Amino acid sequence: MTTAACGGTHDVLTVEDVSKSFGGVQALDGCTFSMRGGGVTGLIGPNGAGKSTIVNIVTGFVKADRGTVRLGGHGLHSLSPLEIARIGVGRTFQDLRLFDGMTVLENLLVAREARDAREESTSVARRGKRRSARRPNLDAATEVLDRLGLGDGADRWVRELSYAERKLVSLARVLMTEPRVVFLDEPSSGVDLNALDHFGNEIRILRERGAMVGVIEHNVEVIRMWCDDVVFMTRGQVLRQGSPDEVFADSTVLSEYVGGGAAHA
Ligand SMILES: Nc1ncnc2c1ncn2[C@@H]1O[C@H](COP(=O)(O)OP(=O)(O)OP(=O)(O)O)[C@@H](O)[C@H]1O
Ligand SMILES: [Mg+2]
Repeated sequence: MTTAACGGTHDVLTVEDVSKSFGGVQALDGCTFSMRGGGVTGLIGPNGAGKSTIVNIVTGFVKADRGTVRLGGHGLHSLSPLEIARIGVGRTFQDLRLFDGMTVLENLLVAREARDAREESTSVARRGKRRSARRPNLDAATEVLDRLGLGDGADRWVRELSYAERKLVSLARVLMTEPRVVFLDEPSSGVDLNALDHFGNEIRILRERGAMVGVIEHNVEVIRMWCDDVVFMTRGQVLRQGSPDEVFADSTVLSEYVGGGAAHA
């Protein structure tokens, strides 16, 4: 699949009837929703609802037992994580997964490789320019780090950073891939207001660029602040999709959330 085949600001991602069990645990049970380019969708629900699992399936890290994932009409469900990354689907991990033994800058440059591979696969002419592409990558990393207030820390070891700084590095890494679709897994947890503002700002920039943003969150206020659309999940299914006002006014959603409807298997 070429990048162009999935491009444009009107991309639609559809997850249809996706199920996944891990041994006896039914993590997803006929999960169906959609997202659109230029929009920010919040994925919310109690612990164990299946939010991270759906992101793992969309990004190819976990294979679904059943169901389809399509981006711009093309099936992602049969592709590898690398192929999906090369199409421009990026994500952060709930547990960050940074390279602790590298510097901040090195973490960003490694992340850029998925994007470079994508560019090369869509343009034979670019192959010869690989070496000269290094300088622009450095400039892009510097720009991203400056925007996130990490400009002075480019040469620091990632293992020496605070949790909030590490979280911003995980955001910086996915920004380096210039994603068309990006999932942020629990951006607000464990961070200060400064880092939260940076996440909000970058989400706004991504949206303006026509990217599709999925935000997995527990914090209703954060969802209200950032999202146009909300998918409420519980027990591996989507209970409700709609605007934040619609979803958070739904009495079933409220009782599931307050009641913590994750108590399955
Ligand atoms: N690799 C795995 N092996 C076994 N069980 C798993 C695995 N991944 C997820 N699960 C189980 O699937 C269910 C859904 O998990 P998932 O991580 O998707 O939930 P979540 O909505 O992201 O929860 P949280 O809000 O706590 O992050 C849980 O019961 C979880 O324990
Ligand atoms: Mg999760």
